[in-house]
Amino acid sequence: MQSTRPHQLVAVLDFGAQYGQLIARRVRDLHVYSEIVPCDISAEELRAMYPSAIILSGGPASTCAEDAPDMDADIFNLGLPILGLCYGQQIMAKKLGGKVGYTDKGEYGPATLHRTDGNSRLLADTPGEQTVWMSHRDVVEEVPEGFTITSTTVSCPVASMENRERGFYATQFHPEVRHTQYGMVMLKHFLFDICHLQASWTMTNLIDEKVQEIKSQVGNSKVILALSGGVDSAVTAALVHRAVGDQLTCVFINHGMLRKGEPEMVEEVFRKQFKMPLIHVHAEERYAELLKGVTDPEQKRRLIGTQFWKEFFAVAQKLDGVEYLAQGTIYPDIIESGARKTGGKASTIKSHHNLIPFPKGTHFDLVEPLDHFFKDEVRQLGIALGLPAGMVWRQPFPGPGLAIRIIGEVTQEKLAILKEADAIVREELDAYNEKLFEETGERNSEHSCWQYFAVLPDIKSVGVMGDERTYQRPIIVRAVESSDAMTADWAKLPFDIVGRISSRIVDEVDGINRVVYDVTPKPPATIEWE
Ligand code: XMP
Repeated sequence: MQSTRPHQLVAVLDFGAQYGQLIARRVRDLHVYSEIVPCDISAEELRAMYPSAIILSGGPASTCAEDAPDMDADIFNLGLPILGLCYGQQIMAKKLGGKVGYTDKGEYGPATLHRTDGNSRLLADTPGEQTVWMSHRDVVEEVPEGFTITSTTVSCPVASMENRERGFYATQFHPEVRHTQYGMVMLKHFLFDICHLQASWTMTNLIDEKVQEIKSQVGNSKVILALSGGVDSAVTAALVHRAVGDQLTCVFINHGMLRKGEPEMVEEVFRKQFKMPLIHVHAEERYAELLKGVTDPEQKRRLIGTQFWKEFFAVAQKLDGVEYLAQGTIYPDIIESGARKTGGKASTIKSHHNLIPFPKGTHFDLVEPLDHFFKDEVRQLGIALGLPAGMVWRQPFPGPGLAIRIIGEVTQEKLAILKEADAIVREELDAYNEKLFEETGERNSEHSCWQYFAVLPDIKSVGVMGDERTYQRPIIVRAVESSDAMTADWAKLPFDIVGRISSRIVDEVDGINRVVYDVTPKPPATIEWE
């Protein structure tokens, strides 16, 4: 197969795997470009992407279930090497005439693998006995014709199988998970010894490739982008600007509920450093008016979100000839919106997850260069594009901003207090994280804080300052450890740091006489208070 793409592609068919995101990631870590595609992509659509190899991911369903995710069996006739993992092994077995059945008890976690075939190409250079990571209930009971069983475990008669002649390999275990001792050795065998791919893909290649893609998509048209100050929109802006220069206009809607220093950072980076056309919309007063008297969290969110798009389209419609809207959608956004289930090829996914409320009669085509990437890859890309570390490593921040960290009505006075207190929390915990980074070399190490901020509740309490009684507000400090925000634990911060944050807030922020620390995990709480 011939491709116009300068790099070889490994397509990962996604059956909804818990570890699915890791597969494409691991392949990219080995310097081969990889993208995830929906499992029900047709053989024709897949052929049109000119992949060099295919990986079938794991998935939570049972291949024996009636509504089990299916795949086009013609994909096995494309003449490409295929690696099936977990569910991927089972569907490979089924489609090619083997048999899959239920077991009474599944196999979850570490398992001891026994190699049964010294000639296995996938397991070459690995010992006869080794630890692998399992997560399954069903097993392959009979392998299809032409396949050899290459390993077993106590509970799994076919822990791996291969048909060397046709280039089909499969494992019931997960080589992409670190707990599988020789997982990376196996992936390397598949990519380099079996598929003969080249380890030539890098972040710089990615930038060049994406720049070319954006250029050919956009041509001479104009592009608009809503800049939030977050990592994804910032990296998208830098990338699109590298591709089409001043054809891109960034619109920054300042709703007045950003953290201290953020609007200034956006100005500094995009207007001064990158010299991008930037429209800074000062919507602070309109938002203040809009939120008067509003106390319900959901209503706050709704009003802020709706107003955001009103502000944005008011600007967009005034600019002449804008045909494209660039967005920092990343792969997990697509997953979260449930679009993956809709199937079809990548372009179909986009239209499904697009929830932008375009005003009547308005239409922009979307440019979404990050839609196959994960957050940490987007960060690497940002660094490679020259964005400052402070922006690239910025912690998650909700769209409605500080409004959902002020319990009750949002007022200018409360906003001013919260901005100051939040700046202290961030300053102290940025330094704490930086110290951990120096010690461990990892940005999100075991005890580093993933997200940390201040919350201003709608209560007052009695205190004493000097000889005076005070009756003022408290600040709640929230700091969590997490990797994906789905679950989180409160950060076990050293007491001296908690103490310093408390003293600084009470000393430096007018109107605060007490500081409390939120020690609730998610679940049962959420990370944000509203
Ligand atoms: P919760 O509070 O649900 O938050 O545990 C999970 C993660 O999502 C962030 N968050 C938001 N992000 N718009 C966003 O872009 C929002 O409306 C929003 N609400 C919550 C939150 O900061 C945390 O990282």
